[in-house]
Amino acid sequence: MFGCLVAGRLVQTEAQQVSPDKFIFSLPDYDSVNHLVVFLLGTVPFPMNTGGAVYFCCGGVDGGGGWQLLGFISNDKPSAIFRISGLKPGNSGCNPFSMMGSSSVAQVGVSIESLDLLAQQTPVSSSAVSTLDSFTQFTQKMLESLFNFTSSFALSQAQMSPNPSEIYVPASAIHKWYENFQRRLMQNPNFWKT
Ligand SMILES: *[C@@H]1O[C@H](CO)[C@@H](O)[C@H](O)[C@H]1NC(C)=O
Repeated sequence: MFGCLVAGRLVQTEAQQVSPDKFIFSLPDYDSVNHLVVFLLGTVPFPMNTGGAVYFCCGGVDGGGGWQLLGFISNDKPSAIFRISGLKPGNSGCNPFSMMGSSSVAQVGVSIESLDLLAQQTPVSSSAVSTLDSFTQFTQKMLESLFNFTSSFALSQAQMSPNPSEIYVPASAIHKWYENFQRRLMQNPNFWKT
């Protein structure tokens, strides 16, 4: 169902199925890997209203690794690139896949979960590839700048001189938009493209 690709290596399409909804790829020599692509092969789609959470685990029993959430793939977004070079070994063991790797072999896990559940989870921030990172940072700054700028014109109703022909927008409406946009951006930096 899934494939896993590191530039310069063979594509892996034989994931080990460790439970009905969990799959694992081994990633030898992960120290030399910067980016990782996980994708749907296209032969079998995700069941309705589900997608795949992509996890990474480096280090094992000896290295004290833990599963870290990289991001998601779904039928609407059937492939994704992740940066793993900046990830530090976690400390919670390799659950929920209940498999341990040796310390030079990392593991990539795909867990099939409901889209609702996926939307509530936040990937480790360093897993986003850097162009998306700076793009997201810029967008956040821009949102903040617009919010700050418009806020500087804020008046309470008591401070206003009545002007029946002027139209006002409540500052709370701008703040609400700001928070919504920010949340959608965190969930998927490319949401505006769809
Ligand atoms: C917006 O205002 C906050 C609080 O005054 C400030 O910390 C932040 O740097 C400002 N952001 C921008 C982009 O101007």
